[in-house]
Amino acid sequence: MNMIAARSSLDAMVAAITAALHAAPAEPSAAVAEALGAHAADPLLLLGRDCPCRAETYIRHLLHEDAEQGWAVAALIWRPGQMSPIHAHKAWCAVGVHRGVLTETFYTLHPHDEAPRPTATAQRRPGDTSHGPAQPDAIHRLANLGTETAISIHAYGLPYSRFCTDLNRVFC
Ligand SMILES: [Fe+2]
Repeated sequence: MNMIAARSSLDAMVAAITAALHAAPAEPSAAVAEALGAHAADPLLLLGRDCPCRAETYIRHLLHEDAEQGWAVAALIWRPGQMSPIHAHKAWCAVGVHRGVLTETFYTLHPHDEAPRPTATAQRRPGDTSHGPAQPDAIHRLANLGTETAISIHAYGLPYSRFCTDLNRVFC
């Protein structure tokens, strides 16, 4: 019973994302974020899925991939204190928080600085979303600054096999 509910919940999210991609194929990040956000905080979303954390750093777990259309959805697990590098995306992205609280910091790059400067922060709670196009100067970082493990759901305009090599422009 629970496995059926878990599949149905994730399937509903994937169907909503697929519809959003069809509706806005040129720059789908906002539409995908809206679709993803409607399901991200569903407590049944990951039921039956094994998504362990990792002691050293945050970790991705693939939830769905459409390799032919070139996009994929993953769950990221953040233990307290874990954070992404400061980065921008070379593909569109949409994020929704499933559990816990993440802090998103935005940065800008000045020509003579070695590292990007922070410009703003926002707390992302269950159901909150963030998104962006493929834009190498739209720089941000996600961090779990809380005391409990956080889980976020990420959709990217790349096959999962390219997440590690072609997704991020990393600054530091
Ligand atoms: Fe990102």
